[in-house]
Amino acid sequence: MSGSDRPVLDGSSDGTSQCASARVQAPIGRRLLTVAGMDELGAYRVLRLSDPSGPRPQPGQFSMLTAAERWGGGEDDRPHVPRAFSVARWQDGEAHYLLEDVGPGTHRLCELRGGDEVWVLGPLGRGFTAPAEDQRAILVGGGVGIAPLAILQDTFGDHADTQGTVALLGFRDGAHTRGASLLRGAQVATDDGSVGHHGLVTDLLVRELDETPRAIVYACGPAPMLEATRAICGARDVPAQLALESGMACGFGACFGCVVPLRDGSYLRVCLDGPVIDAARLERVDAHAGAPA
Ligand SMILES: Cc1cc2nc3c(=O)[nH]c(=O)nc-3n(C[C@H](O)[C@H](O)[C@H](O)COP(=O)(O)OP(=O)(O)OC[C@H]3O[C@@H](n4cnc5c(N)ncnc54)[C@H](O)[C@@H]3O)c2cc1C
Ligand code: FES
Repeated sequence: MSGSDRPVLDGSSDGTSQCASARVQAPIGRRLLTVAGMDELGAYRVLRLSDPSGPRPQPGQFSMLTAAERWGGGEDDRPHVPRAFSVARWQDGEAHYLLEDVGPGTHRLCELRGGDEVWVLGPLGRGFTAPAEDQRAILVGGGVGIAPLAILQDTFGDHADTQGTVALLGFRDGAHTRGASLLRGAQVATDDGSVGHHGLVTDLLVRELDETPRAIVYACGPAPMLEATRAICGARDVPAQLALESGMACGFGACFGCVVPLRDGSYLRVCLDGPVIDAARLERVDAHAGAPA
């Protein structure tokens, strides 16, 4: 990946708070983009959209996607609202999205082929903030939640491994572990023990934290995984940034469908104030705030 293709991380941060000013702004209105390709990745698909003149997203930002044709609205069907997807990679004028076929929206998107068209609103939301120089980044992903960690790892550059950055990824089974190839040098855990560590990805996190004096954790995945990550990091006073995947209808702050409660009794809209949230602001991660398990 060339330097100009490399996404940027939000501002300088000590990892305990997010820079309120920084976000890459979406162009006004949705844009009609062409599918450059659809790649198979075990149980997942990677949708590549040609976007040579679009804004370069910040790792952790997402887009609302709608297939230009057959997006619900058939005879016995209601039109679908757009669906939210993390940008998984930004490379050579293409935006990549990791898809898992879990329902009507993702099913239709997985059917797309080169030359088809997609309406895109984005990049939206606030992404990850950079680690401090003396912090070791630990990336923790579960299932389709690995997507924003791939573009995040890209920002760390080719020397990430020598700097000690580590990627820990958890999957249901072997078919899903193909997704791990999106990241370099990932350690894998599976629920069924077919690949890598037999158990939870948070087992690997505990092991890494035991060996890392100054860590910062970046996580995205199912709500139970994020909640376990929040609790583990909170107990050890390790800063953590969690990318939440609360169900969304609009993606830009209008519907309040994505609100989550904060520790201080207030609420935030995940689409506008997140999806990346400082874990210390959350009392817990509720079931609706994670990626599909
Ligand atoms: C910021 C953000 C980033 C996301 N990034 C990705 C991504 O990179 N790749 C990806 O495949 N998906 C991602 N998602 C989730 C994706 O938006 C949903 O999977 C999608 O809306 C499902 O649409 P559908 O019509 O296929 O299924 P639906 O009919 O909408 O749902 C199918 C099933 O999945 C469950 N489900 C749907 N969405 C969620 C959710 N957000 N959390 C928990 N359960 C859910 C539903 O309860 C239902 O059981 C992201 C969501 C958000 C908010
Ligand atoms: S999705 Fe509408 S306010 Fe967040």
